[in-house]
Amino acid sequence: PEPGWTVEADAVVVGSGIAGLTAALELRTRVPRVLLVTKDRLYSGSTVWAQGGIAAALDPDDSPAAHLQDTLVAGAGLCDPRAVEVLVTEGPARVRELVARGAVFDRAPDGQISLTREGGHHADRIAHAGGDATGAEISRALVAQIEAVRDDPGIEVIEHALVLDVLTGPVGPDGRPGAACGVTLHVIGEGSRDGVGAALGRAVVLATGGIGQVFRSSTNPAQATGDGIAAALRAGATLADVEFVQFHPTVLWLGAGVKGQLTLVSEAVRGEGARLLDTDGVRFMPDVHPMAELAPRDVVAHAIVRRMAATGSDHVWLDARHLGADFLRRRFPTIHDRLAEHGIDLTTDLVPVAPAQHYHSGGVLTDLVGRTSLPGLYAVGETACTGVHGANRLASNSLLEGLVFAHRAARDIAAKVAGGELPVLEPVGRSGERALVAAASRSRVQRLASAGPGVLRDGEGLRRAAAGLAQVPTDAHLRHDAGHPLADPQVAEWETTNVHQVATVLTAAALEREESRGGHARSDFPAPDDAWRLRLELTLDQDGTL
Ligand code: SIN
Repeated sequence: PEPGWTVEADAVVVGSGIAGLTAALELRTRVPRVLLVTKDRLYSGSTVWAQGGIAAALDPDDSPAAHLQDTLVAGAGLCDPRAVEVLVTEGPARVRELVARGAVFDRAPDGQISLTREGGHHADRIAHAGGDATGAEISRALVAQIEAVRDDPGIEVIEHALVLDVLTGPVGPDGRPGAACGVTLHVIGEGSRDGVGAALGRAVVLATGGIGQVFRSSTNPAQATGDGIAAALRAGATLADVEFVQFHPTVLWLGAGVKGQLTLVSEAVRGEGARLLDTDGVRFMPDVHPMAELAPRDVVAHAIVRRMAATGSDHVWLDARHLGADFLRRRFPTIHDRLAEHGIDLTTDLVPVAPAQHYHSGGVLTDLVGRTSLPGLYAVGETACTGVHGANRLASNSLLEGLVFAHRAARDIAAKVAGGELPVLEPVGRSGERALVAAASRSRVQRLASAGPGVLRDGEGLRRAAAGLAQVPTDAHLRHDAGHPLADPQVAEWETTNVHQVATVLTAAALEREESRGGHARSDFPAPDDAWRLRLELTLDQDGTL
């Protein structure tokens, strides 16, 4: 068979959520050639689905210091304060730049950006757009900017391009993994960029989003298969905080048989005053936390699961009826319409909700400019672990993190390209066969992950999940010839392999951490333990063991 095609750039950006689009736009004016690849259309992925908003201390009565404090509290002792400091101090300027790039935020009658509150925040600092369609508006504005320069010779965009592996240069004399010098891609396209090929670059930026497809149900879209995390791990990069998965408290509950992407009912609905009731009609959050329904997200999710167990129910109710029909329709048009598709009227009905997977606080470990442990490899957005989220992300800090750290990563790459610090490297070839997980195994992996490192965990369940994941067969094969993947497995096999790899790492980390903290709750170790006030870092050895 013919080897695939090759495209060369200075920087290869993988992913087109807020982080990938921001990185590509910042790089475009700073390095000669940028390649932006995305596995669906440019306008797709998790950012498009973000409802509530983007947090930043924009109000004169608010301050970055107060935002920092709320972020540290939500992170349950594991945030990197330096990273949080960067996030909250640079955040307001980056949001204003988003406005300059054309994103239209909702405005108050005085013309200022309208700010609301969400769980864990002690100030109104959530900017929103279209009421509850913030991510869709941000994506629209950033994609429009990319489309406007698409004919520019300095940027190439390849859609429908799944990242397979990170290509690396020679291994260091001390056995350290080689520097990143590109990625292999599986493109479902036309003409010269079809099939499997290689994108070579001085720097690679992974912005592939989250891991929702690891679980049976999630608020994430189908694209969230942990591709960047899995590829970084296979290349030898270090992951961190992987065990901290955020389960959103209020996801529309339509019955145990309904899986896949579920409808989010934004925390902003509680921010505007909606209450949680158990199935006996009793409001329970005021007894759990002084901030009641607006306690940090992990606290609310765990309280709901416990209440469901105590009442023998599979959901609780969200009650927004007292907020008024006109206000609800105007403020939450997307949620109102999505609920209506299921015959639920937000203005007159109680809404059945239960926690579901929503966000991955951990990821590929980076420094304050997005650099991973591999030279030349950067990670930004949900793919990264910058340290801003610690054990539990504060609401609406994710879009902000993508924005702030993609901007920083792009500037770091540009400075290094200009300074000759990122050489062009030849990828080191690897011939032979790679075993992949067949697509048919995906629901088995999802069942194991949901039962093991799900919303409430214990050692026995995690050990069962680890054993089950180890037995999932790898029976689809990919042939390599000197580093170029040649054939046959399709996108679904690669995605399932990534989902399986992330589930395995997540289960191992959750088993190791014998305490409860933030998004990691273990019924056999129900309290936080100061001895565990540390970050778990994971790397794959040359022989493939963690
Ligand atoms: C939401 O709208 O509740 C989601 C916001 C977030 O995940 O930060």
